[in-house]
Amino acid sequence: MAIYGAIPVLYAHGLKHTVGIFWHNVAETWIDINNTENRVDTHFMSESGVVDMFILMGPTFADTVKQYTALTGTAPIPQIFSLGYHQCRWNYNDETDVINVVDNFDQGDFPVDFVWLDIEYTDGKKYFTWDPIRFKHPLEMQQNMTATGRKLIVIIDPHVKREAGYFLHEDALSNDYYIKTKDGNVYEGWCWPGASSYLDLLNPIVANYYSELYSLDKFKGSADSMYIWNDMNEPSVFNGPEITMPKDCLHHGGWEHRHIHNIYGHYYTKITYDGLLKRTPNTRPFILTRAFFAGSQRHTAMWTGDNAAEWSHLAISLPMCLSMAVAGHSFCGADIGGFFNNPDTELLQRWYQAGAWLPFYRSHAHIDTKRREPYLFEQDVQTRIRNALRLRYAHLPVWYTLFWEHSKTAEPVIRPLIYQYPDDANVLDIDNQLLIGSSILVRPVVESRVSTVNVYFPGGAPQVWYDIEDWRPYHGNGAASIPVTMDKVPVYYRGGSIIPRKDRPRRAASLMHDDPYTLYVVLDGNNSASGTLYTDDGHTFAYRNKEYLYVQFKFKDNTLTSSIIDKDAHFSSREWVERVVVVNPPRGIKHADIKSKSLGTLKLETSYTNDERSLVVRKPGVSVQEEFTITLV
Ligand code: GLC
Repeated sequence: MAIYGAIPVLYAHGLKHTVGIFWHNVAETWIDINNTENRVDTHFMSESGVVDMFILMGPTFADTVKQYTALTGTAPIPQIFSLGYHQCRWNYNDETDVINVVDNFDQGDFPVDFVWLDIEYTDGKKYFTWDPIRFKHPLEMQQNMTATGRKLIVIIDPHVKREAGYFLHEDALSNDYYIKTKDGNVYEGWCWPGASSYLDLLNPIVANYYSELYSLDKFKGSADSMYIWNDMNEPSVFNGPEITMPKDCLHHGGWEHRHIHNIYGHYYTKITYDGLLKRTPNTRPFILTRAFFAGSQRHTAMWTGDNAAEWSHLAISLPMCLSMAVAGHSFCGADIGGFFNNPDTELLQRWYQAGAWLPFYRSHAHIDTKRREPYLFEQDVQTRIRNALRLRYAHLPVWYTLFWEHSKTAEPVIRPLIYQYPDDANVLDIDNQLLIGSSILVRPVVESRVSTVNVYFPGGAPQVWYDIEDWRPYHGNGAASIPVTMDKVPVYYRGGSIIPRKDRPRRAASLMHDDPYTLYVVLDGNNSASGTLYTDDGHTFAYRNKEYLYVQFKFKDNTLTSSIIDKDAHFSSREWVERVVVVNPPRGIKHADIKSKSLGTLKLETSYTNDERSLVVRKPGVSVQEEFTITLV
C-alpha cells in the first residue's frame, strides 16, 4: 500500500559506477522494477503531478547519496538522549504505571531514557488533552521522571475528534481550518476517536495555529522536556479508500488530495518541529513519525510501523532501515519485540540485540499483547537484554559522532556493505549485515535456534576485523561460519579504526554526560588507526555557536595523538580518557608515556590481555579538550 512513507529515489549500481534518479513527485507513486537477464527496467507511475526528475550522476555510491542529500537535506544532530533506549507500549495505563516502569528499570539496572504514552493518555482521543482520571498530574509525573534523568514522549495524531466542546474541533470549525470534500463540506473520516476531521495543513495560517498548540501554556500538562510522536499522519483514515483520504478531498490552494497524498505526513512533522522550536527555541526537538517523504530527515526520526512478533519481521528491519539510510534518512528503527502478537523470549532477546545496532532503539507493543518490559523475565533473559542495552549505551559516543558527521557530510549513519565496498561483487545483495559508520560490522542473529551464522568480512585480505568480545581477528577475504549462542551476536571493529566508548553502566544517557571515555585503538597491518569523536552539551543549539569539540585520534609509530579538528570551536567538557585499549598491539610494550600541556609527561601502566590480543593503557586521565600524545614504550 502506498501509505506510511515515500522516498522516490532509486539507485542503480554497477561495480564501477552508481547513478540515481530522484523522482520529485508528491502524488501517490508506484515503481515497478522488472529484472530480466542483463537488464533492469523501472517504471514510475505517479497519480498526478509534473515530471520533475533529477539524475544523480555518481560516480560512486557515496557520491550518489550525497547528490540526493544535496537536494533534500541532512538530519541535524539529535539530542544524545534520543539515541538511548525508548520504552513504549500501547498503553501505559496511568501515572502510577509510568512511575513503576521507571522504578522497575532502575531496580533491574536497565538503562532507559524515555517512556512513551500512546493514545490512551488523552481525554477520549482528543489530542493536547490528558485523561482527567488516569493522567491527572502529568507535570508532577514528568517531574518524577526527570528527577531520575528520564523523560516523556506522548503521541499526537492528525485526526481531530468531532466532538462539540473540544477546543481544537471548535477552533477548526469556526475558522474554517478543515480539509473539504469535493462538494466543499468539511471532510469527515474515521480513526481512533471515531468521527474525525483533518486540518488543512497546506494553509500557512492553519500550520501556524497548529504549531502553536505545542506551547507550554496551550498544551497544559506538558513539560518543556516532553517530546512528540506523530502517528497515523499519512493521514490514515480507517474508512477511506486504501485506508487513506479520498483523492478528491480539497486542500488549501485548491489542491486535490491526489496531488499531495505523499507529502501530508511530511508537513505534519514539519509543523511539530516548528512548534517544538517555538516552545523551547534552544532545545533540539525530538519527533518520531510514521509518515514521511523525501526531506523528512531534517525534522524527524521514523520507525517502520506496525510489524509483528515474527522472525521475518525482525530480519526485514535491517534492509528497511538500511534503505532508509541510503535514502537520506538514517534515524530509523523498528518496534523491538514486534508490535502485534507476543514474541517468545528467544525472539525478544534477539530483537533487543539486533535493535541495539539500528539508530532508533524503541520497544513497542499493541494494546492486546502481554506486558513485556525487560524486568518481567527470567534472570538469564534479563541479563541478555541488559547486556544489549549496555552495549548500546557504551557506543553512544559513536552514534553521536556519526550523526554529527552525517549532518556535515551526508554520509549515512548505518550503511549497507555495498555503500562502503561498492566494487565487491559479493556484497551486492548482503542485507543481513550492516556497518555502523565505516568501523563497526554487525551481523545480528535474526534466525531462531541457530548455532552458527554466516558472516561476510569485506575489504580484502589485508583488512582484518576484530570480534569485540575477545579481539579474535577475521580476515576480510570473504564469508566465514561463526558460532553463536544466545549471548553471542557477531560484532566486529575494523582494523585501522579508533572507537570512543563510555563503558561505565548508567541508568540513562542523560546521566553519562561527564563520564570518561575508553578509546579502542584497533590497529591495522601497518600498526596504524584513526577515528573521530564529537561532543557537546548533548541537547541545545549551542553547537551552532561553535560550542563543541570535534577531535581526531590517530595512531602511528606507536603513538596515539589527539588533535582538535575544528580549532575555532570550544566546549568546556568534563569528559576525560579513562583507558585506552589497543587491539592487535605491538609486542614487548612495558609502559606508556602520556604528554599534554597540563599533565606534562607521565608514565602510565600497561598490561596485555586476551592472550596478548589487546593491551590496556591505564588511566591516562587526560581531558578530551586537550591535545595529547600517548606513546607505547
Ligand atoms: C498505530 C501505530 C502504533 C500505535 C497505534 C495506536 O497502529 O502504528 O504504533 O500504537 O496506532 O496509537
